[in-house]
Amino acid sequence: MPPFSRRSPVMAQCHQVRGHQSIYYIRTLVAGLREGYGSAVKVECELAPVDVVPDQALPLGLIVNEVVSNAFKHAFPGGRTGLITLTLEVTEAEQAVLRVRDNGIGYRPGTPTGMGSRLIRGLAQQIKGDYEFRNENGTLFVLKFPLIAAREDPADKIAPKAAE
Ligand SMILES: Nc1ncnc2c1ncn2[C@@H]1O[C@H](COP(=O)(O)OP(=O)(O)OP(=O)(O)O)[C@@H](O)[C@H]1O
Ligand SMILES: [Mg+2]
Repeated sequence: MPPFSRRSPVMAQCHQVRGHQSIYYIRTLVAGLREGYGSAVKVECELAPVDVVPDQALPLGLIVNEVVSNAFKHAFPGGRTGLITLTLEVTEAEQAVLRVRDNGIGYRPGTPTGMGSRLIRGLAQQIKGDYEFRNENGTLFVLKFPLIAAREDPADKIAPKAAE
């Protein structure tokens, strides 16, 4: 798939995604990718209702797009079958943790990186997130980002609730 056609739907779909809708947004994105790659690879999502603000939804969607596309494109060469698992959860420290795991060939250190890797780095910075790739029976991507921003939603500042 040409790079732009794979990235533009993510932006088109993200309008005003906020709060728990991020789960449906992510699910829809991943289902679209699976269709686009026509892959026999199975996908499982276990997404907690994490509250994100619209400013977090687009970077998050684009990161999911890059990492999951990579799994479809690179993890299962030669038509091999496998599983991609996405989980999203909240920690006690008010952090969201996104994990994307595949049981494919693994991410070899020193692999030349492309546009996708640069995007992931920049987008993670935008949401003040940290991420790493691990080789664990395939590739595991872990992204942690703070949910504090949800409390800084400008809408809350414009119309503060009157004290009762
Ligand atoms: N899940 C994965 N399993 C195996 N290899 C991977 C995986 N994810 C990434 N890679 C390897 O890392 C490389 C860099 O990924 P990156 O997303 O930066 O570039 P790309 O996917 O090749 O190109 P682009 O993202 O610009 O379309 C890939 O070419 C691939 O070799
Ligand atoms: Mg890529």
